[in-house]
Amino acid sequence: MSRLPVRRFDALIIGAGGAGMRASLQLAEAGLSVAVLSKVFPTRSHTVAAQGGIGASLGNMSEDSWLWHMYDTIKGSDWLGDQDAIEYMCRMAPQVVYELEHYGMPFDRNADGTIYQRPFGGHSANFGEKAIQRACAVADRTGHAMLHTLYQRNVRARTQFFVEWMALDLIRDADGEVLGVTALEMETGEVMILEAKATMFATGGAGRIFAASTNAFINTGDGLGMAARAGVPLQDMEFWQFHPTGVAGAGVLITEAVRGEGGILLNSQGERFMERYAPNLKDLASRDIVSRSMDQEIKEGRGCGPHKDYVLLKLDHLGPEVINKRLPSIREIAIKFANVDPIREPIPVVPTIHYMMGGIPTNVHGQVVVPQGADPTVVVPGLYAVGECACVSVHGANRLGTNSLLDLLVFGRSAGNHVVSLNLSAQSHRPLPQDAGELSLARLARLDAATSGESVAEVAGDLRKSMQAHCGVFRNQQLLSEGVDKILELEARAQRTAIGDKSRTFNTARVEALELDNLIETAKATIYSAEARRESRGAQARSDYPARDDANWLKHTLWYRDGNRLDYKPVNLKPLTVDAFPPKARTY
Ligand code: FUM
Repeated sequence: MSRLPVRRFDALIIGAGGAGMRASLQLAEAGLSVAVLSKVFPTRSHTVAAQGGIGASLGNMSEDSWLWHMYDTIKGSDWLGDQDAIEYMCRMAPQVVYELEHYGMPFDRNADGTIYQRPFGGHSANFGEKAIQRACAVADRTGHAMLHTLYQRNVRARTQFFVEWMALDLIRDADGEVLGVTALEMETGEVMILEAKATMFATGGAGRIFAASTNAFINTGDGLGMAARAGVPLQDMEFWQFHPTGVAGAGVLITEAVRGEGGILLNSQGERFMERYAPNLKDLASRDIVSRSMDQEIKEGRGCGPHKDYVLLKLDHLGPEVINKRLPSIREIAIKFANVDPIREPIPVVPTIHYMMGGIPTNVHGQVVVPQGADPTVVVPGLYAVGECACVSVHGANRLGTNSLLDLLVFGRSAGNHVVSLNLSAQSHRPLPQDAGELSLARLARLDAATSGESVAEVAGDLRKSMQAHCGVFRNQQLLSEGVDKILELEARAQRTAIGDKSRTFNTARVEALELDNLIETAKATIYSAEARRESRGAQARSDYPARDDANWLKHTLWYRDGNRLDYKPVNLKPLTVDAFPPKARTY
């Protein structure tokens, strides 16, 4: 018998962002008892910060097709995305957008009442011929509108929310079946077991392993840490997207929609430098290419400002009407964080960590899959992952802008449907193992017993600096090997942290210490995977291996926590119903 109190549900979802709430909606509307756990109030989840739009080939502005969207996604992924999953996502895109519209999402409209769509990086018509308008947007607050729409719909469906609860560890039985999680109620400090017949991670990204990030402070890779500690490998973790336009010095996102609406990047000589790097799509080339070009301009001395360490994003030529109508939050962010009004002056921007292409390996139903022998598709019973914490893989080595919101809608929905199909209400809970909860209790006991040691914030800060320095836009063997050593040192230091006098410590200090464990797992997975991949592909740009190497590296990485072991599995180059898009040179 466990020492901890237990609550039981049919299904448990960890994370109340777009992916979690899209999944919970399917479950609650089907009448299942579903609990959604969140470290923050649901509408404060990081999806709220998504700005530019949702990719879907509605064809409202000009002819479009899901096959063109599929091609753009595969090319964007530098051919590392699985083509079956990408076909599934792009075909489903119009449907999930129309569902949101019917839930009441206040999309921007064209004069004829159809949903307005804007251009975005890497989106093209006719297999790369010219830029196309495919991003369905609510001004520059698309994620905000989506999260509020999904939350209201979930309240109507009677989803049960556990607000300000942090999930700590997975519970698995001797057969490997997942039976729920341990969780900490942040207000009281109480630890509980939440038992479920299906457990779904929707914990979002982990951008807080880097010093400069567009991610919220809550994005600490909690799902990844829990999965890794439970023996689940993490896939393709070397691929982290730098968004070209974070506010210099602040990290806050300036949406690609600025360039979609006509904004341009300039260097210190006033040159629109993207014309040199991507003559066709220019400022709307894919993000890895724009970020590398900016980095190159800065390294070659054409950066702006007193330290020549940023470039400028000019949008004053769009005029106040367009800026105030289509980009109102961007104006506000620029005024508050960069002290410039973009109606008159350009915004100083730098490439900033934004999105994790890798994550917990899943199939298109959100089921977590771990290779066994020659079979890469063996399912972990009872465990699902959706959204940014999952790796389906539809983003491969570089995600196309707007495909994150699409991913979480499509796969949140499909995972929800899969759980519904299991008819869980008719099944009983499996018995909990004798030691259920012991791992979490031991982690908490270590913290409470440590009366002296390093501060958690200091170790976390050093981790972020190390990742930024050793795993940035451009990488090489020496940087990465040194990075591995530094992260291992930090792992040891994290075990020697203390949160001070137990009787006077807020639970938020415990939460930060527990988050540090998850940051460390994520950083290890990233640096080991990046060090081993000796090629440049998508967001992994190695100055010592500048070319893509399909002969040796057209494969997914799997990092296992146990011994930091790496393994590989093939990329699925076979779509579901159409001809494959074979790898070719990637130019924009
Ligand atoms: O630029 C943006 O609005 C971000 C969109 C995305 O990451 O898909």
